Amino acid sequence: MKRILTFLCFLALSARAQAEYVPGMGEIMGATQMRHAKLWFAGKSGNWPLAKYELSEIGEGLDDAVHYHPVFKGTIQVSKMLGKFTSSPLQALDAAIDSKDSGKFESAFDSLTKGCNACHRAAGHGFIVITRPAAPPYANQDFAPHGK
Ligand code: HEC
Repeated sequence: MKRILTFLCFLALSARAQAEYVPGMGEIMGATQMRHAKLWFAGKSGNWPLAKYELSEIGEGLDDAVHYHPVFKGTIQVSKMLGKFTSSPLQALDAAIDSKDSGKFESAFDSLTKGCNACHRAAGHGFIVITRPAAPPYANQDFAPHGK
């Protein structure tokens, strides 16, 4: 009986913890950084299904930033800024991926990176500078195409 009660308490507490969990802006951005790097290596490897997947994950992460932090630290208008700095590069990336066009992919990727940095500057975080990744972020993932 005591064990069951302890277990029920645990369930109730973990449900509460889940309901209250709000990912921090820095956490969302850290995940976005990882996906930005994966997106690059997927596109460079011609793994278009993976590139499409990472692009959509980036979009979801940025949507989460707007959802959880529409105004960050009282002054940073995340909801307005995200659209301004990332919508058109994200659309260009989507089109480049759909048409499997490496040249367009590279230039759209660079535009996205510029958008990340422009928003960081506008948000008073110009010291966070994103670049084209030099090496794959993980040693345990193959970026080569393997079908759908
Ligand atoms: C709203 C404009 C905005 C856009 C667009 C944006 N960021 Fe950020 N980013 C921020 C803010 C604000 C912070 C600071 C978060 C904090 O203080 O917790 C940040 C922080 C970061 C960090 C630091 C996280 C850490 O904990 O070290 C990284 C990395 C990052 N962003 C990557 C990116 C990438 C990659 C993109 C583009 C795909 C991007 N950001 C687009 C506003 C933006």
